[in-house]
Amino acid sequence: MSFSLKSSVDLPNSPVPGAQIPLIGLGTYAGSSGGLAPAVKYAVKEAGFRHIDAAYAYFNEKEVGEGIRDSGVPRSEIFITSKVWNTHHRQVEECLDIILSDLGTDYVDLLLIHWPIAMNPKGNSKFLPTREDGSYDIDEEWKVSQTWEQMEAVQRLGKAKQIGVSNFSEWMLETNILPIAKIKPAVNQIELHPYNPQHKLVAYLKKQGIVPVAYSPLGALKRPIAFGRSAKGIPAIPKSSKPSRILTNGSPAQLTPDDVAKLDALSNEPGKQKRFVKLPWGVKLGFEDWDIAETARKQ
Ligand SMILES: NC(=O)c1ccc[n+]([C@@H]2O[C@H](COP(=O)([O-])OP(=O)(O)OC[C@H]3O[C@@H](n4cnc5c(N)ncnc54)[C@H](OP(=O)(O)O)[C@@H]3O)[C@@H](O)[C@H]2O)c1
Repeated sequence: MSFSLKSSVDLPNSPVPGAQIPLIGLGTYAGSSGGLAPAVKYAVKEAGFRHIDAAYAYFNEKEVGEGIRDSGVPRSEIFITSKVWNTHHRQVEECLDIILSDLGTDYVDLLLIHWPIAMNPKGNSKFLPTREDGSYDIDEEWKVSQTWEQMEAVQRLGKAKQIGVSNFSEWMLETNILPIAKIKPAVNQIELHPYNPQHKLVAYLKKQGIVPVAYSPLGALKRPIAFGRSAKGIPAIPKSSKPSRILTNGSPAQLTPDDVAKLDALSNEPGKQKRFVKLPWGVKLGFEDWDIAETARKQ
């Protein structure tokens, strides 16, 4: 199966009839210092990307917005994702208003809960607040289901066309979101590459109409990994700030079913499964390969 930057995937849970997400997007994590706006402009104007993955917590959305405007491509033709950060679970709309102001737009196409982890909004940092003992300052009183209710509210206001989640396990969705959701998440953005294919979670999401989106798709093996995901119809958001790589990452893939099967089987070898984004939150997330004991912050 081949894909191109024009390929899109249906979002069955979206309240917007016919809603889709472009299969390939540009990741923007850790891009800034003057390099991100030109990279975004190049991706949109020259390479033809129509999907940009941003987040409040990347602290670079002004540059993302600048790059999009400089591309000259109309806002309505670009699919922008952003994410509500942990310290804003109690104030989703406030976080989204900052996102919209920084991006210079009046809506995002997709808003995600970045992690199912509410952190103290009045703590010692707006990013990763900590307690005196060094552990993360988790907002124990707040439930992720309450955050989802606020997500539904901003969707109804039209400030976010679609809403979804990120870094949610099946357990987290089953216990916190699906029992109360009036609108089911359109996507779950998760770490997906051949070393962390999460086959069971992907199958579960598809059954629920929740589209998995692959972050860190280049993982350790670089470019072929994103191709493996996209060739299976899973949107992927590879990040690069280098024009030649942006072009390469958005170019059509020619993977045979045999190639995809080989990529899928990589993590089955003993000791090969690996998750790259693993923060010591100290709370249960419910992933098969990520136990709460492993995440407890060292004192
Ligand atoms: N929801 C979440 O919690 C979460 C977590 C992580 C990431 N994300 C999103 O997913 C995006 C992608 O993930 P990621 O940035 O962690 O990792 P990634 O896209 O898998 O890899 C990016 C790295 O690969 C390099 N690279 C890019 N294209 C390449 C190519 N063709 N050949 C060789 N190297 C290449 C990039 O360097 P250069 O820039 O120098 O090319 C960069 O160092 C992020 O930017 C972010 O938008 C979301």
